[in-house]
Amino acid sequence: MANRIAEEKIEQIRQTVDIVEVIGDFVQLKKQGRNYFGLCPFHGENSPSFSVSPDKQIFHCFGCGAGGNVFTFLMELEGISFQEAAIKLASKVNIDLDIQFASMPNEKKISKELQAFHDAHELLRKFYHHLLVNTNEGQHALEYLLGRGFTKESIQKFQIGYSLNSWDFVYKFLTKRDFSPEWMEKAGLIIKREKDGTYFDRFRDRIMFPIFDRQGNTIAFSGRTMGDDTPKYLNSPETAIFNKSKILYNYHQAKPTIKKLQTAVLFEGFADVIAADRAGVENGIATMGTALTDEHIALLRQSAGSVTICYDSDNAGIEAAFRAGNHLLEAGFQIKVAVMPDGLDPDEYIKQHGSERFRNEVIGASLTWMAFKFLYFRRGKNLQNEGDRLSYIEQIIKEISKLTKAVERDHYLRQLAGEFSLSLDALRDQQKQIYFAEKRKDNRNVHSNNKPIIIPKQSVDLKPAFHTAERCLIAHMLKSRDVAYKVQDSLQGSTFNVDEHQAIMTYLLGFYEEHLQPDSSAFLSYIQDDNLRRMVANIEMMSINDELSDQELSDYLKQVLNHKKLLKIKEKEAELKEAERQSDFSKAAAIGIEIYQLRKSL
Ligand code: GTP
Ligand code: MN
Repeated sequence: MANRIAEEKIEQIRQTVDIVEVIGDFVQLKKQGRNYFGLCPFHGENSPSFSVSPDKQIFHCFGCGAGGNVFTFLMELEGISFQEAAIKLASKVNIDLDIQFASMPNEKKISKELQAFHDAHELLRKFYHHLLVNTNEGQHALEYLLGRGFTKESIQKFQIGYSLNSWDFVYKFLTKRDFSPEWMEKAGLIIKREKDGTYFDRFRDRIMFPIFDRQGNTIAFSGRTMGDDTPKYLNSPETAIFNKSKILYNYHQAKPTIKKLQTAVLFEGFADVIAADRAGVENGIATMGTALTDEHIALLRQSAGSVTICYDSDNAGIEAAFRAGNHLLEAGFQIKVAVMPDGLDPDEYIKQHGSERFRNEVIGASLTWMAFKFLYFRRGKNLQNEGDRLSYIEQIIKEISKLTKAVERDHYLRQLAGEFSLSLDALRDQQKQIYFAEKRKDNRNVHSNNKPIIIPKQSVDLKPAFHTAERCLIAHMLKSRDVAYKVQDSLQGSTFNVDEHQAIMTYLLGFYEEHLQPDSSAFLSYIQDDNLRRMVANIEMMSINDELSDQELSDYLKQVLNHKKLLKIKEKEAELKEAERQSDFSKAAAIGIEIYQLRKSL
């Protein structure tokens, strides 16, 4: 984007927007004291260390260190530029941005290339779709899809297309429209031949599934063969606009339903997502054939607290569901697992048994995580065999021991007792034994589903005193312009010991040159350096006294300045040793006096 938004407009947005409201769209926040807390959308966690301050209009995560104001929140979360974040916020609070033109050569060049990537994908998506639904060349592909049970509505909704059986159709199509071949190669749409430097199309004679980002831009394709070619699904390579580990197929369309139901249904394949959608399950998503990453989970966290895993019911699918479930569980999600009979995948199930049965007997009858584990551990075991049976029972009891609610433990123990005609009391005894044995094994906290909000202790406690003192001084300087100048004066030309602290102070004094009042959020925008910004957000969240008393100020300053002197003393002591080694006793005596004076001044 080459347009520039006026500074006053940015200021107006900052004044009008409430960070709690904006973040509340992505994170469930609970008020505790002055601040709000929730699960951090930037990293996987299951106890809330993400905090938002309505007074300061900033956020900070004590877990991963993310921090900033409402602009940086949107930029980092949605992967958008400052300008885009400003435009979004402005429209949220109905501020009219009359955008001015200004030349920013560098930014313009970068975004021009990315813009071309987007434009080319957009154009090709439409054209592939047109080829599929309207042309003779695409007829066989359309028949293939309809034969597999895809409907015209699904084909439209998911913008499915067809790529011609040609080596250079896309190449010609794009270059004719002035797209540079170098860029289109970088965008993954064409491939360069090593030997002569000519280009050929990446996707040929395939069913084309466009991949959309969160804003609904086409950023990649996955092309399925209709024959036995490998790979079955050919994906765009990773590019500047496409990162597989961040993309969930169909997320942009499913998000409103996911939010409404607070649940997403996670599938293995595109075909499954599309079939489920046709069957009325509109909160379906899938990874791009890869395992679920922390980034995927962070994305899901923005709209849901629970996930129903609906993977293929073959062995590989069940293993993958187990892994995905554990990963999601660690991140604090509620999990259910939908299973189908006979090793079917969801797409095949819907084709054979219909939408209603899929909704009621598969999704509606999803297993709890524990019930799924009963199934999971049973595979490959012959429960008629006593050894297998006992090891199975022990595994299950171990899992039951992990449950925090007594009623749940009781429920599953009864189920186990009933199934194997065992004495409930004996099972309970064994369960207790296993519980305490496991507890001794790992000294970490026992999992709890109903975690209280624990404000994590800041690592400050472990840092040396001068470090904490500098942070406290900065915290006060952030709150008051007068204090900032007072601290600067009191340092008498000396600096903070921690380079980052000194850099923050320099920024802050620069900020106060232009601003007569402290403004946490504006200051975070003023800092250009990501790392420093995170540090400032962290310091902002420290609890400090309202006023800085003279006593407190001089204590902190002493810590800061003493540290310098202590370093100096160490240095001098080494010099003293050296002088003594060289038997230069008059030099040694002089150094000794210096050391004495330094010590005295502490
Ligand atoms: P259909 O065979 O069309 O019904 O698809 P499916 O979803 O049943 O496919 P499958 O279960 O074999 O694979 C699930 C997902 O893994 C697909 O949606 C793709 O995302 C991915 N996948 C499958 N095969 C390949 C492949 O050959 N290459 C890549 N990159 N991904 C694949
Ligand atoms: Mn399938």
